[in-house]
Amino acid sequence: MEQYAINGGNPLVGEVEIGGAKNAALPILAASLMTDETVLIENMPDVRDTNILLDAMAGIGTHVERVDRHTVKINGSLIHDLTVNGDSVKKIRASYYFLGALLGKYKKATVVLPGGCDIGCRAIDQHIKGFKALGATVEIAHGMITAEASHLCGAHIYLDVVSVGATINIMMAAALAEGRTTIENAAKEPHIVDLANFLNTMGADIRGAGTDVIKINGVEKLTGGKSYSVVPDQIEAGTFMLAAVASRGDITIRNCITKHLECVTAKILEIGGNVEAGEDFLRVWCDKRPSKATIKTLPYPGFPTDLQAQMGVVLSIADGTSIINESIWESRFQYTNELNKMGAQITSQGKSAIFEGVEKLYGASVYSTDLRAGAALIIAGIIAEGRTEIYNLGHIDRGYENIEEKFRKLGANIERVQE
Ligand code: EPU
Repeated sequence: MEQYAINGGNPLVGEVEIGGAKNAALPILAASLMTDETVLIENMPDVRDTNILLDAMAGIGTHVERVDRHTVKINGSLIHDLTVNGDSVKKIRASYYFLGALLGKYKKATVVLPGGCDIGCRAIDQHIKGFKALGATVEIAHGMITAEASHLCGAHIYLDVVSVGATINIMMAAALAEGRTTIENAAKEPHIVDLANFLNTMGADIRGAGTDVIKINGVEKLTGGKSYSVVPDQIEAGTFMLAAVASRGDITIRNCITKHLECVTAKILEIGGNVEAGEDFLRVWCDKRPSKATIKTLPYPGFPTDLQAQMGVVLSIADGTSIINESIWESRFQYTNELNKMGAQITSQGKSAIFEGVEKLYGASVYSTDLRAGAALIIAGIIAEGRTEIYNLGHIDRGYENIEEKFRKLGANIERVQE
């Protein structure tokens, strides 16, 4: 079995370069098949989820050409199958982006019901509500979801919950609907803005992305021709920011959008860390034990759920008792059992966890329970005394490229080994 073996204790010092955002790359890749012209996507992260999506795109007839590790050329003019199925694609959440993209372009799509990390009930009622409002019929049978319309018509859609996935799916389908669609209570995450920018470079007419009202004037078709570079990964950058604080290190995080990380910066300053923000870099350092904090995860621009576990590691060794309320996913505290094996004192119940800060963590054998939990356990291993082994690396590979190499360059003693 593969594992990360970490000998902890080194503070992390140096520079790290942030890659393209997984959660922006996934919808951008799906949207790239909405035109019959060739599209060039740059700064694409080479992670398992994007590779699975690309394979699924190729599987339905999309021409996918790898120009280099982070650049891909896509042409969706020869798509011959509107059904996306298969064991790999079933495992990723983003498979549902084929619904919005294919429904928009071909007015029909059948996609295997989405999987993803086991972090809570992952409803898709808001996606369905959006497709229906645009005039589609939606049916679920035999583990597959089919959306179909004779033609799509713009609509006024008020989302009952702020959903990244539903906002993205509706935006894609509405880009090629007739007339204007308004999405109210839309998600505002940086990847929503990135997808809207991408669609607009292809000739879509989308305004307001990044606010909670997005207006989409449908166009007849989308074009290609231009290249598009995926936005830097807010969550990867935040992971290294919190690793700097946890290890009492000093890391300069290059190629990030500092605005996207303001809520993390504010919390780091609150608990006694230091942050210097440059134009496209953040330097984060900490020379003392962090102090306690109260965190509530919220949709952007609130504290991201995808950094909750990494923050949990910081609070596990903070001075005092901290509380985290997870308001997005109900099963995102599974990592706290693993941290407790390392000497942390965390009690979690439902969507809340209480962290009695301890002086030190100690190496142990632990299991990554989801993608971000895996990143958090790496940080925990780096700051712990002694040796930590982390299993279930598949979760981590889904969304972090070369994570061990990046941590090694910062001074961590981490190896990926076969047991
Ligand atoms: N929800 C509904 N109905 C819906 C859709 C969502 O009730 O139709 C609920 C969910 O159950 C959840 C909340 O709304 O409680 C937010 O879900 P959202 O749709 O925003 O999440 P998602 O699109 O499935 C994306 C990211 C997640 C990230 C969340 C929140 C991708 C591929 N996934 O998921 O990323 O946690 O937004 O920011 O973009 C990760 O990268 O580790 C990850 C889990």
